Amino acid sequence: MALTVSVFGQNKTREVLTLEKNWRFHKGDVENAYAPDFNDSKWESVTVPHDWAIKGPFNMDIDKQTVAIVQNGEEVATEKTGRTGALPYIGVGWYRNQFSIPNFSAEKKVILLFEGAMSEPEVFLNGKKIGSWNYGYSYFYFDITDHILADQQNSLAVKLTNRERSSRWYPGAGLYRNVRVIVKNKASIDQWGTFITTPFISSELAKVNVKTKVSGEHLILVTQIKDADGKIVATDTTKTLYDNEFEQNIAVSNPKLWSPETPYLYTSISQLYMGNHLKDEISTRFGIRKIKYEAEKGFSLNDSVIKFKGVCLHHDLGPIGTAVNTAALRRQLTILKDMGANAIRSSHNMPSFEQLELCDEMGFLFLAESFDEWAKPKVENGYHLYFETDAEKDIVNLVQATRNHPSIVMWSSGNEVPDQWGSDGAKRAKWLQDIFHREDPTRPVTVGMDQVEATMASGFGAVLDIPGLNYRVHLYEEAYKAFPQGLILGSETASTVSSRGIYKFPVVEAKMKQYNDLQSSSYDLEACSWSNIPDEDFVLQDDKPWVIGEFVWTGFDYLGEPTPYDDMWPSRSSYFGINDLAGLPKDRYYLYRSRWNTKDETLHILPHWNWEGREGEVTPVFVYTSYESAELFVNGKSMGVQKKNMSSPTNRYRLMWMDVIYEPGTIKVVAFDSEGRPVAEKETHTAGKPYQLVLEADRTQLNADGKDLAFVTVSVVDKNGILCPTATNQLNFNVTGAGTYRAAANGDATSLEMFHLPTMKLFSGKLVVLVQSAEDVGKIELTVSGKGLKTAKTYITTIN
Ligand code: GAL
Repeated sequence: MALTVSVFGQNKTREVLTLEKNWRFHKGDVENAYAPDFNDSKWESVTVPHDWAIKGPFNMDIDKQTVAIVQNGEEVATEKTGRTGALPYIGVGWYRNQFSIPNFSAEKKVILLFEGAMSEPEVFLNGKKIGSWNYGYSYFYFDITDHILADQQNSLAVKLTNRERSSRWYPGAGLYRNVRVIVKNKASIDQWGTFITTPFISSELAKVNVKTKVSGEHLILVTQIKDADGKIVATDTTKTLYDNEFEQNIAVSNPKLWSPETPYLYTSISQLYMGNHLKDEISTRFGIRKIKYEAEKGFSLNDSVIKFKGVCLHHDLGPIGTAVNTAALRRQLTILKDMGANAIRSSHNMPSFEQLELCDEMGFLFLAESFDEWAKPKVENGYHLYFETDAEKDIVNLVQATRNHPSIVMWSSGNEVPDQWGSDGAKRAKWLQDIFHREDPTRPVTVGMDQVEATMASGFGAVLDIPGLNYRVHLYEEAYKAFPQGLILGSETASTVSSRGIYKFPVVEAKMKQYNDLQSSSYDLEACSWSNIPDEDFVLQDDKPWVIGEFVWTGFDYLGEPTPYDDMWPSRSSYFGINDLAGLPKDRYYLYRSRWNTKDETLHILPHWNWEGREGEVTPVFVYTSYESAELFVNGKSMGVQKKNMSSPTNRYRLMWMDVIYEPGTIKVVAFDSEGRPVAEKETHTAGKPYQLVLEADRTQLNADGKDLAFVTVSVVDKNGILCPTATNQLNFNVTGAGTYRAAANGDATSLEMFHLPTMKLFSGKLVVLVQSAEDVGKIELTVSGKGLKTAKTYITTIN
């Protein structure tokens, strides 16, 4: 069935058709696949957003790269297997679809918008190539008015090409973000033509500056500002065009300010008239908020100094790959909010619109990044191939499409670009920064720098609005003195590695530590040769007012870059996440939470207490807590009181009992308030044999839209309900009713089980099942079973 744009309603001045359904997809190149009469009936039928590679299978030969990763300090080339996730993203893929525009006339203008296409999209309409783009992360659009066939099916074909050795992580493949057809009048507001800023704010009044680029003649613009309840709080009408731009300054009294704690949003309704005729109407959400970056003082939002408690995120969503999904993004942000995070960095590329909208609504500050390479390569077929020709237009689109999001408070023009070396690099940094400033004079620009010494010498770091340091905690002080800005951002921090629920002995700090099982220890003392444990960043954040915050690498594990096992198969996803690939918190989650979430109590004990075979051996116990001190008991015997102290970074932020001797039973921690009164306690027990499955859905009600997702955490417990922390049982999933099984993940970076198949092993006693709503209202039943285990069921309803 072909899609149809609905007929223009009486007052409807524009229609947006999201091309989600009825796509045909084919992996591999096909001659004539762009031809309107091409027979695609044998092609796979898919919905977009779509990631053609996420169903695998994993294969160590895919994108195998025999390279020395120079930025990791490697000098000798070795064979890297899972660097880009070992999933089949390389090659050509074709997508085809059709749409029609009834009542199309000479008055109309049609825009075809891609919110991201991986990669090198070539777009054909009715057999003709109408345009192409290179960068897979960019948003871009074409005016297709002249190619539209009125009252008939228009045939759309998109060819995508992914080259090997083009990425340092899993980039995904295909039409992984939305594709939209926008039908409007010729006399209309330009695509991304609205720019709203709030240059003056007091408690009584905000000046809302609205710039609106338009096409057409004899135009009048009416702008209404609505508050969050939909009440009109201000209106302004103008006829004065400056070239093709209207500019309005609109007073909003008693403004409610946007912040992470109070993410208050206004909406601007722009109505474009020609005489008495309404020609176009769009609405733009924005926030009223003030940002300032000041030497020595740091970053302030609405006149209060705050630090970025941020995480870096790659764009993949674990088991569903890169296909953008609002429910999956919201779940990530919900988890991060509970941790106390207030900021996100979209490393190392343009964020999805969906993610920005959620950050506006939920209250996250956003550092929007653009590139991982400039003119000098990191990988053979990386962005350097396009830098000279494309960098400007890629930045222009990034800024124009996203600049009304109050969450965005800083841009980043690059990450660890090899251009940090040499004099051309500083010039490029200035060139890019000037483009950002031209498009948006309200936000500063940073670059994540790892070659800190080179950037001090070359002037590269001095050029930037905000010098961002990636790792290199030992150089913060020197860089602060050398750079003129008077502040430093931890643009990328920590890169501590760990596997959820896995603990290694002896418990010692280590760099690039490898184990035979290809896992890393969750005592959170292991990092890379270039990176560090979280505590070392905390010291800088706490002691230096000129350090304006940090973005931890990373909030969640991602596909690809399995350091410290880059050259060891079957590692295929990262160990850096504070949460694993399934979104389950690792112990580190509680370390950050104990510092960042200042409202709620954190009291977390590690490791688990199932150490058969370690009886009598030293098995240290760590407690991550918001309290200053605590006492530990093993089977009722006190192991003494520990108090946070300044003797070392770890002693400052963790409570550690290093000499505990393992005996099965119960460990209990009792935390004390500042007066030494016991105020909270937690216990961990040795578990018996796996007995029963337990399900816990993050949401029990989904939208009946065919896209919504529930994330169901599956654990296995013993007869007494105690979590079995080492269980690896193979489980099976069955979904019936108004939904389908979408995927599962267990967070094991070495697992080669496919996410989309309804079976998976537990990892450290847990995994997560993703259930997707259908378009019907009803009830979904998820059944999880495993040999020798009591089966569990859970129910989710779908609503309109
Ligand atoms: C940084 C880089 C990230 C990631 C990280 C791993 O140098 O910017 O993309 O590779 O290291 O520690």
